Amino acid sequence: MSDYDALLKQYQEYKARNLSLNMERGQPADANFDLSLPILGSVDQSNYTTDDGVDIRNYPGGILGLREAREIFCEQLNVGSNEIIIGNNSSLEMMGTFFARALLRGVNGSQRGWVHDSPRLIVTVPGYDRHFLLARELGYQLVTVKMTTNGPDMDAVEQLVANDASIKGIYFVPTYSNPTGDTISQEYAQRLINVNAAAQDFTVFADDAYAVHHLDDNPLPAPNLLQIAKDSGKANRVIIFGSTSKVTFASGGLGMAGMSEENITYWSKVLSSQSIGPNKAEQWRHVLFMRNYPGGLQGLMQDHAKILKPKFDKVQEVLNRELGNQNLASWTDPRGGYFVSLDTIQPVASRVVELAKEAGLALTPTGATFTDGKDPENKNIRLAPTRPPLEEVELAMEIVACCVKLASAEVG
Ligand SMILES: Cc1ncc(COP(=O)(O)O)c(C=O)c1O
Repeated sequence: MSDYDALLKQYQEYKARNLSLNMERGQPADANFDLSLPILGSVDQSNYTTDDGVDIRNYPGGILGLREAREIFCEQLNVGSNEIIIGNNSSLEMMGTFFARALLRGVNGSQRGWVHDSPRLIVTVPGYDRHFLLARELGYQLVTVKMTTNGPDMDAVEQLVANDASIKGIYFVPTYSNPTGDTISQEYAQRLINVNAAAQDFTVFADDAYAVHHLDDNPLPAPNLLQIAKDSGKANRVIIFGSTSKVTFASGGLGMAGMSEENITYWSKVLSSQSIGPNKAEQWRHVLFMRNYPGGLQGLMQDHAKILKPKFDKVQEVLNRELGNQNLASWTDPRGGYFVSLDTIQPVASRVVELAKEAGLALTPTGATFTDGKDPENKNIRLAPTRPPLEEVELAMEIVACCVKLASAEVG
């Protein structure tokens, strides 16, 4: 039997199993959610008043979120407790509010709403499809730069922003990025914060969704963007977003935004015009839960890593075993976050996804990691191993490897 026939036979065997596997979206596993189950009982009829005497049933409490929540979750964004706004359940929703408000009246220091300047935002590719959707829906034009292993391609960013005042900002994931898992380097972070931009209100929107999602016991510290900005005399240039979606419950926890105290003053005015305050009941539940969790936020994230790391290790093990040294694909080996990014050598990513689908494995559609839904090279596949159980990750990765081999063989 030829190699190709053997591959085809293996593929047909997977197909015959009528599998239903999913490595499409980066969701926590039930075992991850279980770690946070005590949240559901952390507030009851006896403890609805915060340490500061805020009654979580009533309006007063402030637009910035509960002091106690700000003190706990500032660690997540690596900012001070006076440099964070704790909002409602989704960072995307907060980002949407900030981007929309920037269009209407600008950011702190703008002369007018960005909508008057046909605003453009730099985004990184491969990147996160929801970033592209959110910014586009609001009317921003997207300009892409490559996500490198050191962060956004800074040579390209520097060139783009120097003479184009319509480029109002950059929108990217600084730590364990979606999908490559790369973290911005100290050098690139310095260059980005200090970039010489034609737009005087150029802003760095850092979606730090995976800031504390380390897989290693002793993670390397990521650059502290706000500190760099403050040290560079550009404190107002950066806004950092995050949430507890992959810390406690997905869409069922807290969103947050970190920024300079001056920016806090500006944005609290803006936010106060549309809300009396965020959901204090959820914030208080999170505070009481985190206080009781052994090791606090760090302890919780280490327990998440114990569940996630074997899955990421399995991805590497199968890919190395099945595709190592064959010149068919390369892939990332991230130290944190939720994804592994695989690039086929031949332009066959869409065929791999199609073959996998026919064999009962859902993968992120090709092109989703690019702004117009089309991968110009047809090579990138985002793998999301967090949600399925370990045994399924192994089988799913064997199918991915088989499909890569088959699709590559098809083009010769
Ligand atoms: C980079 C990034 N940002 C934001 C989100 C969603 O965050 P939230 O649930 O807080 O809206 C995700 C989810 O996959 C993500 O990967």
